[in-house]
Formats: sequence, C-alpha cells, structure tokens
Amino acid sequence: MKVVIRDPSRSAPRCGAYVVFATQAKDGARKPVPAALEEVKNVAEGALAPTGGGEGALSVAPLPAGSPAERLYVFGAGSAEILSPRKARTLFRTVLKTLEKNGETSAILDFPFGLERMDGVESREFLLRTFLLSAYRFDRYKSEGNTAPELTTVRWNLGRGPWADVSRQEAEREAREAAAVAAVSALVRDAGNTPSNDLVPRHFAAWAAREGKARGIAVRVLGKKEIVKERMGGLLAVNRGAAEEPRFVVMEYRGGRRGEAPVVLVGKGVTFDSGGISIKPSEKMGEMKWDMMGAATVVGVILAAADTRLAVNLVALAPLTENLPSGSAYKPGDIVRFRNGKTAEIDNTDAEGRVILADALDYAGQWKPSAIVDYATLTGAAVVALGLEAAVVFSPDDSLSTGLISAGERTDERIWRLPVWEEYRESIRSDWADMKNSGGRWGGSINGAMFLKEFVPAGAAWAHLDIAPTANYDGEHGGYPTGATSFGVALTLRWLRDRLALKRAVDGPH
Ligand code: BES
Ligand code: MN
Ligand code: ZN
Repeated sequence: MKVVIRDPSRSAPRCGAYVVFATQAKDGARKPVPAALEEVKNVAEGALAPTGGGEGALSVAPLPAGSPAERLYVFGAGSAEILSPRKARTLFRTVLKTLEKNGETSAILDFPFGLERMDGVESREFLLRTFLLSAYRFDRYKSEGNTAPELTTVRWNLGRGPWADVSRQEAEREAREAAAVAAVSALVRDAGNTPSNDLVPRHFAAWAAREGKARGIAVRVLGKKEIVKERMGGLLAVNRGAAEEPRFVVMEYRGGRRGEAPVVLVGKGVTFDSGGISIKPSEKMGEMKWDMMGAATVVGVILAAADTRLAVNLVALAPLTENLPSGSAYKPGDIVRFRNGKTAEIDNTDAEGRVILADALDYAGQWKPSAIVDYATLTGAAVVALGLEAAVVFSPDDSLSTGLISAGERTDERIWRLPVWEEYRESIRSDWADMKNSGGRWGGSINGAMFLKEFVPAGAAWAHLDIAPTANYDGEHGGYPTGATSFGVALTLRWLRDRLALKRAVDGPH
C-alpha cells in the first residue's frame, strides 16, 4: 500500500472510497460534518442520518458523478475530539478491514482528530505509519495465499486534524519518512513471525546482512570460531545444547560526524527458547519463537536510520542462539566465565537472555559509546508487572531513561521505569561465583536487569528495555494483529532524533 498526500482543492484521479470520520456530541446527538468537507458534504449529511456518529457506526453511500470517489464511507468515532493513539490504531484496523472486505483498492481518507500526547508532526507520522501497518499480514505459510483484493493507494487529505496547518511539501516529507519506518517495521514483524525452524541464528544473520548491506550499512557476522576467539563464554554456554551454531551480528551505520561516539543498540536474539534443561511447560512454548524480537528491533532501527538518513552514528549488536536441552546443554550449577572475566553460576538455564547479553554489552565497550540501549524479551515477570500496555525500562541514568520514556509516550510505544538500585544486587549473590543468573521470582524483571548491569562497560550510559510485555501479542490487541508488533523501532528512532535536535540546539549545526 502507498499513501499519497492529497490537496482536496486540487483535482486528482477518482478513487473507490472516500473515508470520513464522524463524531457525536456527548448527549448522543450527531454533529454536523465539518464544512471543510464541502466536496462530499451533502451525501455525508444524508449518510449520517440513520447511524449518527456513534462509535463503531458505519454507513456507506454512493457519491454522485463528478465526485472525487465512487462511495462515501462514514465511520463513527464516538464523542472524543482527541483520540488516544491506541484508539486511532484500532479505528484504522477497522477501516482497513472494511475497505478490503468490500473490495476497495483505492481510497481518499480524511482524518479530523488530534492525538493524545503527540504534537502535530508526531501525530502525522504516527497516523501514517500506523495506517500503513494496519495492512500488515503474514500469510506466507498459507497455501491458499491471499486472494482478496488489497487496498493499494490511499490519498490522504490535507486540511484537517493534524494536517490543518502543514504545507504539502512538509507533509510529503513526513509521509516518506513514515513509509520507510512502516516498511522496516513490517520486516521486523516478518522476522518475528517466522517460525524457528526457518529462522535459526544463521538465517537471522543472513537476513540482517542482506538488508544491512542493501542500505550501505557495514555488517560483520561472527561465526562460532570468532565467538570462541572473543571468549564469549555466555553465548557459547547457552548455545551448547543446540545443534545450530551461534552467530553474533555487528552492524555499523555512520550517518553522524566522523569520530562522534556512536549509540550502541544491543538485542537479545534467542531464535527459540525452550528453557533448556530447566525446560518450560509445553503450553504456549511455541511463543518462544518471538524470543529474538530484541535482536530484530535493533536491526530494524539501524535499517530505518539508514533509510531516513538519520545524522547519527549507530551500532547494532545481536548475539544469536537457540536455547535447547540436550546431552551437551549447559546445566543448573554450571559456572560460566564471560568475555569480561566475570563468572556466574547458572541457577536456571531458562534465564538465558541475560547470559548471552552479558557478552554483547561488554563487547559494546570497544566503541566508547555515548549510550548503550539493550532490548530483550527478558522476563515473564515484566508481563506480570505491567500487563500488555508497556515495556519496562531500567537505567541508572535519569536523563537517559527520561528521554526514552518521553519518546515512547510520543510514539505510543510506552515504557515504565523500574529501579536498578544496588540493594537488589543481593538477590543474585552466589556462594560459588561472582553472581548467579537467576534471583528467584520476587522482582524477577529487576533481577535480570541487575545481572546485565554487571556487564555494562565502565562509565557508559546504559538502559535496558525488557520488551517481553509488548514485543508480541498472542491475539489481536489494541489495534495490533496477532504476533510481532515491532515495538521499540519507532520509539528508538524518535529518541535518536530528539537527541540529535538537542545536540544541534547546543552545538549548532556543524
Ligand atoms: N524469554 C523468556 C521470557 C519471556 C517469558 C518472554 C514469557 C515472553 C513471555 C526468558 O528467557 C525466560 O525464560 N525468563 C525466565 C527467567 C527466570 C528463569 C529467572 C522467566 O521469565 O521465567
Ligand atoms: Mn528463557
Ligand atoms: Zn528467553
């Protein structure tokens, strides 16, 4: 699908559908269709009469010859003038499904609402990105394929809502940006939704290398031999139970100034997590094919940064392995020595994410990063704490966590902070090694973060995002389809752009 910015005062090719949204006054009375919609106003008034603008209402009416489209669709959006981003996403999903069910292949869309928590640019980018992603599907394993016609072109009206006072040029630039982020997000979702038999570490690494190189990103993939040479004892320990070799992906994008310290993004890449010897119950174990979403997120961010020519230096690191039980698997009670020389007693082989991330965080130190942010579907406890509406952010650094939280609010990829105070260190104390990899159930998500903290290069600003709550949903949720969400991609790009804007304000443009 492509979105084209449309100036309603200029003529354009006739479309199948003209989509407008109607609201209702608090007392249930319908509101008149805004005068700006002159071109369909008369029909809209008539079409509205039977249904009103109540939430969920839909009426379809033919438009007269000479109109910009053949049919008018009026979707009722309830009484709010400002929508929550989640509601907008849900509404778009309904619109998309309705249009495709009716066989519409082209549409004009007029969006009149502002969004909570977002300014004009943020709203426009969110809405376009979200609309494009509302058409996302993953049906490559369905033999029947998808035969239903697809909505291929959407002409997006200037003039109202967040588009009330933006130039066509500016709106077009934003639309290109949103399209690039949506396309990369779809790739990230595809990687997540691909079953683990078709996405083992070597497949993931080949995918990242192919997509990265196509955008001029420098990509290095460390194979097992190089991982051994790097003495990444954590990654090797988790990998011992798997027949498939591990990989370690290193991607570097230089959009910023020469010599400027990069931001290093680190993502957990467990392509399947059975739990290993501490094996998980079989119920829902299949969901652990999504245990590489952290890795997919960091790859996605660097791809999108390149596509949008973001003026920052970025590194993405992804340790990749399966976590499986076998005669050679690592076991509870084992003691592992990591790349940085520290040791950990394995208390639970299912706490494997932190074990592979440990080496990756330490490896990040070689870039003397201006910040390190890691992304991981690390703990079920994060889901218990926050439910499905937010991921957890951990950081000893107030300004780093505040910046990330703010970016999340403005992209509707919300994160909520939990502490990493030294007091919690006690729960991962080991009798035999420097620490143990599990601290039991209390504060389970915090214990994971405390473990990672041990491997952050000295002096580096670091944040850890436990994205287990939001990386994938096991049913449609909040306007997201079943499966991977690509949570974190938009948030991180927003955060990088915020940092850049702040830096330019302080340093000047050169
Ligand atoms: N990948 C899981 C965490 C997870 C669980 C993500 C459910 C999404 C949904 C992780 O490797 C794991 O198994 N964590 C353990 C840690 C425990 C053994 C300390 C957990 O959460 O139970
Ligand atoms: Mn696990
Ligand atoms: Zn895991």
